[in-house]
Amino acid sequence: MKTIRLKNKQIDYPILIGSNLYKDIGKICKKYLEKNRVFIVCDINVYNLYRNEIHNSFKKTKIECIFIPIAVSEKRKNINTVASLSSKIIAHSVDRKDTIIALGGGILGDIVGFTASIILRGINYIQLPTTLLSQVDSSVGGKTGVNNIYGKNLLGSFYQPQLVIIDTNVLKTLPKRELLAGYAEIIKYGIIKDTKFFQWLQKNGKKVIEGNTNARIYAIYRSCINKSQIVEADEKEHGIRALLNLGHTFGHAIESLNNYKKNIIHGEAVSIGIIIATKLSYVEGHINKITCDKIINHFVEIGLKISLPKNLKKIAPKKFISEMIKDKKTVNKEITLILIKRIGEAFIQKKYSHNKLIKLFTEITT
Ligand code: GLY
Repeated sequence: MKTIRLKNKQIDYPILIGSNLYKDIGKICKKYLEKNRVFIVCDINVYNLYRNEIHNSFKKTKIECIFIPIAVSEKRKNINTVASLSSKIIAHSVDRKDTIIALGGGILGDIVGFTASIILRGINYIQLPTTLLSQVDSSVGGKTGVNNIYGKNLLGSFYQPQLVIIDTNVLKTLPKRELLAGYAEIIKYGIIKDTKFFQWLQKNGKKVIEGNTNARIYAIYRSCINKSQIVEADEKEHGIRALLNLGHTFGHAIESLNNYKKNIIHGEAVSIGIIIATKLSYVEGHINKITCDKIINHFVEIGLKISLPKNLKKIAPKKFISEMIKDKKTVNKEITLILIKRIGEAFIQKKYSHNKLIKLFTEITT
């Protein structure tokens, strides 16, 4: 098992990465609990897969576990779900020594983290991510939240977990489409800050998708190290944490304009968004054609999505931009973008001109 410690003056928690960890989950969690009870909020789809193993493991360590399965989707990622989940937990006379465990993918983890941050003004929680995307990105770093009618993740908090446990075994039952969606967030680290990792992925990326355990553990480990370093330096996203948003301003607009329909899931929108950001970086002269092609070719080789879904292909640029403005990085209606300087270095471009974006829109989205 590999351990990363996310640590700065305010934060300190471990991220454990390995295979077959759920059978010892009770023992692993015990020292992070303040009492012998946990609420396990889980995606209804993973409940049947892991309930028994997790329940038995907690039983062995004499920890009571209360499972709360919930239905999860981008459309259900809203304040109503948080309200009903809170009530289900509070109904058990929850107190400040209790711990909530989030067992599921990124949407579930964001909802549960946010709920934990507001119950009794904050109780402890542990992340048990079950998708590649949540293992390499959303379970680490304490961003929690839900969507609002005006856009994605507009309600939320920075609220760090006590512990993150990443078990690569759960990826064995994950559909390929979900693996590819997670891979978009992995390659992001290579592009924004880790040239060597990008090169490693060029050689080994296919193994990560095809199920090689060592390749998966390494890719997750390296992603989490990169993410931890950024969060340690800038937890509340006053500066460099925004780099983790490469492709996300475009991606969130795609998801929202697509009405969060399942033909495009979050990681796929991010994948398309990274390609748009790459093309814009090229058109703007920040990277050359060779670098631009290197990134696009890798996406194609792995099988990631690189172009807008059919229903958005003819979208008016102005409409797209008015969706992009809802991004949390927007100030005074001016768009902030993450662009690429070279593979391994990205930068924050504030106040990107709307007119320029309208002019370049077709070129960068086709
Ligand atoms: N997913 C981006 C971040 O955690 O900042």
